[in-house]
Amino acid sequence: MHALKVSFGSAALSRGGALMPGAALALFVAAGLAGCSSGSSSSTPTPTPPPPPPATLRLAAQTHNVLMGSAADSGYLSESLYASTLSTEYSQLEPENEMKFGLIHPEPTTYAYAGPDALVAFAQANGMKVRGHNLVWDSQLPDWVTAPTSPWTPATLNAALSDHIANVVGHYKGEVYAWDVVNEPFDGNGNIRSQIWYDSPGIGYAGQGTKFIEQALNWAHAADPAAKLFVNDYSVETENAKSDGMYAMAQDFVNRGVPLSGVGLEFHIDPTFDTASNLNSLSQNIQRFGALGLEVHITELDVRLPDDTTASLTAQAQTYKDLINVCLAQKACTVFQTWGFTDKYSWIPSFFPGYGWALPFDENYAKKPAYTSLLTALQ
Ligand code: G3I
Repeated sequence: MHALKVSFGSAALSRGGALMPGAALALFVAAGLAGCSSGSSSSTPTPTPPPPPPATLRLAAQTHNVLMGSAADSGYLSESLYASTLSTEYSQLEPENEMKFGLIHPEPTTYAYAGPDALVAFAQANGMKVRGHNLVWDSQLPDWVTAPTSPWTPATLNAALSDHIANVVGHYKGEVYAWDVVNEPFDGNGNIRSQIWYDSPGIGYAGQGTKFIEQALNWAHAADPAAKLFVNDYSVETENAKSDGMYAMAQDFVNRGVPLSGVGLEFHIDPTFDTASNLNSLSQNIQRFGALGLEVHITELDVRLPDDTTASLTAQAQTYKDLINVCLAQKACTVFQTWGFTDKYSWIPSFFPGYGWALPFDENYAKKPAYTSLLTALQ
């Protein structure tokens, strides 16, 4: 018996694929080729069996040049099943909370890097990429920002945000390959939501639409010119008034050379999303951003259920399958990320009372039908 080494083509790394640990880029297949032996020349070669399909989400996704991501929290890394599932099945992680302003910058001159540093170290040790989340959001802010001792002026708030972005992006320069620079800036009509960074009091661009987003992108780009920069939002998955607003921003930024690499589609849904009309609209939406030369990342996917009956889990599996198939069909779709991977640590039950069971692994880390449907679609 001889080992036959079957390598994936180098193209597998060309769309941002993470490096795999050890020799995981290659499959070793016991071939048992008669022709490999020094036996008589009259023996008939046994046909080489095809290699088995990649057996994990990350390996299977890599053959499509797609990163399989998950939100993660450093507090759970000491749990062996959490760590082993994350590192085996995913090629990207994104801190679910620990890089948000209030957690990473709790006091004006204090940065709390220990938790996110641990996530970055874990990712690096396991050949995973890190997606940063997030730099500019009007939620999960520290008291020193929301209740300052003396009221902000646009000039002082501008300086504070500039300092924040320079510090955080600078700290992770070369380690975080992509950032959600601005999170959830749009309202349902595709206009900018009133918020501290825009107009209350804002950083100096109140009433100027996406100008504050442009400023944040420029600051982030200055701190790490190689990082990919994203604007991320919810309810922008299909073509609608909100995603039209995001598209208009993207088109304008691309035309003027503002450093935008792509957009994030959050995707907190339930199985009712899974209609032909929505899937078609999603495809068109990804395609139009792709036509601008931008990447589209699915950033926070979960498919919440009201119960874990077979019918619900089957509908959920079909939803995951249909979404990964749309992503695989669109070259611009380079990241397929879920908001966590185990039902044990999902935000859903506390924010949607009565709902849960939203992720591909159950609370005991067992693979659910959703996992199997994803893997099968990727194979
Ligand atoms: O860390 C404290 C803990 O000390 C305290 O004991 C506990 C008591 O409630 O709260 C803990 O903080 C919670 C934090 O998650 C960490 O678990 C907050 O209360 C809770 O509000 C916070 O929720 C997060 C939420 O963003 C905040 O808006 C979720 O975990 C997180 O999944 C969610 O993620 C967002 C994305 O960033 C943006 N898109 C939507 C998505 C879902 O809301």
